[in-house]
Parts: sequence; C-alpha cells; structure tokens
Amino acid sequence: MSADPVSPPDSAAGATIDRSGGRRGGLDQICIRGGHRLEGAIQIGGAKNATLPLMAASLLTGETLALSNVPYLADITTMANLLVQLGVEVGVNGENGMRHGRTLELSAREIADTTAPYDLVRKMRASVLVLGPLLARCGEARVSQPGGCAIGTRPIDLHLEGMKRLGAEIALEDGYIHATAPKGLVGAEIVFPTVSVGATEDLMLAATLAKGETRLVNAAREPEIVDLAKCLSAMGAEIEGAGGKEIVIQGVEKLGGAEHAVLPDRIEIGTYAIAAAITGGNIELQGADIGLIGALRQALLATGVDVEETEGGVRVAARNGRIECVDMTTEPYPGFPTDLQAQWMALMATAHGEAKITETIFENRFMHVPELSRMGADIRLDGGAAVVRGVERLKGAPVMATDLRASVSLVLAGLAAEGETLVSRIYHLDRGYERFEEKLAACGAEIERDIG
Ligand code: UD1
Repeated sequence: MSADPVSPPDSAAGATIDRSGGRRGGLDQICIRGGHRLEGAIQIGGAKNATLPLMAASLLTGETLALSNVPYLADITTMANLLVQLGVEVGVNGENGMRHGRTLELSAREIADTTAPYDLVRKMRASVLVLGPLLARCGEARVSQPGGCAIGTRPIDLHLEGMKRLGAEIALEDGYIHATAPKGLVGAEIVFPTVSVGATEDLMLAATLAKGETRLVNAAREPEIVDLAKCLSAMGAEIEGAGGKEIVIQGVEKLGGAEHAVLPDRIEIGTYAIAAAITGGNIELQGADIGLIGALRQALLATGVDVEETEGGVRVAARNGRIECVDMTTEPYPGFPTDLQAQWMALMATAHGEAKITETIFENRFMHVPELSRMGADIRLDGGAAVVRGVERLKGAPVMATDLRASVSLVLAGLAAEGETLVSRIYHLDRGYERFEEKLAACGAEIERDIG
C-alpha cells in the first residue's frame, strides 16, 4: 500500500482528493426514471458522522492514528484539508486506490496552525470539532463562527460553554472564536441543557487531556459517540459511560497512536432501507448492523415492511400491497434520527393513509416539502410538524436539492414516481453518499448523473 498525501486546498503543488471523479462543478444533476422495484445487495460504508470526530482526534497526539473503513465523501475531504492546514500529515491508503473503504493515516507531529478558517467551517459545520483537541493540545484555538445553515441557526454555544467550564477563556474577534487555556484545561462537571452530538464529542476530545475528572451529564448517546470513545480509549484515554447519559473522563498526560475501524453508517443503512421499501423491493444491506437502526426498524415493521438480520447484514423487503402510513417524531438516539426524517417523508408520501412527521431537533428542516409537493405529494405544514397524506403515485418533476438529506429524499421519491425526475444541486449528495447512483443502479434503478 502506498501513502497518498492530501495537499492543502488551492495548492498549486498538487491536487486535493477529488471527490467528483473529475466531474467538478455544481451543475451536475441526477436523472431518475422511476417505477422500478429495487432488488439486490448494497454494500454499506463507514459512518461519515463518526469519521469526522475521529479525524479530529488525531490532533491530540504526535503519533499516527490509522482509521480504516473511511468513506469516500466530500465532507471527509473537507476535514482532511482542514487538518492539513493545521499541520497534520494525511496519508490515504486502501483497496481500489482512494475509493471505497479507505484507510487514513493521520500524524499530527507538530501543530503548525490553530485556526479553522471561515471557508472550511462555512462549508462543513463539523470543522468546529477541531476546537476541543486544539485547545487541549496547544492551549489555543481560533475557529470561525459557523453562522446559519440551511436547516436552522445551529449555534455552537454548548461547545463554548463547555470549554469555559474546563477553564478556557473565549473571546469573539472578527467572526472568529478565540479560545485560550494558557494553564491547560481542568476537568469539570458539564451539564448539557439539550442533547448535542457535536458538543458531546468536542468536550470528550478536550477532556481526554484535561487535568483531573470531567463529567458530561445529559450527553448524546449516538453510536458515533461510542465509536469515538472506543478510539480514544485505544489511544490511551480513560473514558467510561459512552452510550449512556453520563460520560466520565479521567484526563491523561499524553495520548498515543492507534488503529481503529469506523462503524457502519446508520444513515446510509436507513436511506437504502427506505429505498427498498418505497420501490416495493428487496435489498440486502451488506455490512449493516441491525442494532444501529432500532427506531427505523420499528417504524418500517409498522408500515408492513420486513427488516431482518442476515449473516452479512440486514435484509429489507416490502410485502405485497401498499405500505401503511406511520407517524414519526425525530429524537436524539435511540429515537428516530433527524437525518432520516426527509427520507421517511418521501416514503409516507406514497403510503396508504395519513402520517404526522414531527421534527424536534432542527428548526426549518422541511425544505424538501415544497419539492416533494412538486412531485404530487400531499403535505401540509403545521408548525414543527408535517402532515402527509399518501398518494397512489408520485409524478416525476424537476426538483432542487437544498441539503444533504433533503436531496436524497427527492431521489427516493423519484425512484417511486411515474416518469422522469431531475434533481439538481446534487453536490449535497456527495457530502454523504458514496457511489450513490452506482449502488442504486446495481439494484435495478434507472438513475444517472448528468454532468453539468
Ligand atoms: C450531528 C450530525 C448531524 C445530525 C445531528 C443531530 C455530525 C457531523 N452531524 O450534528 O448529521 O443531524 O447531529 O443528530 O455528526 N445546538 C445548540 N447549541 C450547540 C450545539 C447544538 O443549540 O452548541 C442545537 C442544534 O441547533 C440542534 C440540536 O442542538 O437544534 C442538536 O444539534 P447537534 O446534536 O449538536 O448536531 P450536530 O452535532 O451539529
């Protein structure tokens, strides 16, 4: 295996990882001719949302952190480019060159810079996850304020309040958060008023090198948190309780290198499970772990779709006849994930009956509603909820993607619709779905990318 370094963005010396396979530009569209029942197998990749904090963990040690089962996605490239700017050496190995299931070797021997610049944080909010590790290792970090995004204001106050509890001083300067801890971080009890995945991860990262004990109360319980704790423990951190509401971290002097395999992507599993359901199909999701999709499984079973564990993963199979509408409310894990809400809405748009879909995690996460309506869906917005009355058949239409999960819901709707659906602004999809069209086409979907 040969290491393939990642150059900084805009580097004249070499190319960054090119996620577009040479098809750069934001004008690409996906064209779907719907109505095909999907049948076959889809390989599930490593979780994007686990990989991002794991990559940030590399900043905590001068030794090499090797992450395997890393997905090939635009967000991973963005984080790699940020780490390179901070002085991390990033090597990419893997079967199929830089494609599926890569291994990233991250070595932060020296931190060259402690700033996460606006252009990267704006592109991807998870860039904020370098705050905790930089503060812990260098006693300083400058991170651009993320500002608003398509699915709400999404502040980072919980990250900042937590860092303050660990002894950091926070100043706001020219749109940047300047955090300093000249005497190092000191463990403390942090009680989160609301559950935040990112803040839990950022504070876990910071607390590993703080002096003494940190107690995170009302912590997020997502599987990605457990994965991060496993990796940090392999690096020498002392962490207990990850996956529960309270995480206790005993700070250590130093962390070392480790090897860690990223867990499967439960949102990718869920998206393809819904693809099987919406087309009346039967798909085996290879490498999927049924334990990661408990809430979705219950909801799918209630619609009349079978979800079973197989030797190599999970099989999702629609029974004969139309599926039933089922209400759904998004909640922190182990509840139904907000990242599957848009896909669920597409499914309900074609189901029998009426379903109320309530979004409790993000404000303004219903931008897919007007686009689904363009395809003939019957959806009424009612505050933080959408009431969907299933129609017999959606109709293909030109639609526009607004964010990652909204865009995939439009493709799912297109798979079930009569005629042709053209989804534009699909660069959002490349942030979270690897070889998306290829995987669906292999199961019988008529789907292709028109390069703009
Ligand atoms: C992560 C996921 C994202 C998912 C979300 C909720 C990653 C990279 N992204 O995002 O895909 O949709 O969890 O499962 O893992 N909040 C505050 N203050 C803060 C932080 C968050 O008010 O400092 C609010 C947010 O606006 C939101 C809620 O808390 O309403 C949950 O956000 P959070 O769990 O932090 O989401 P992310 O970590 O950004």
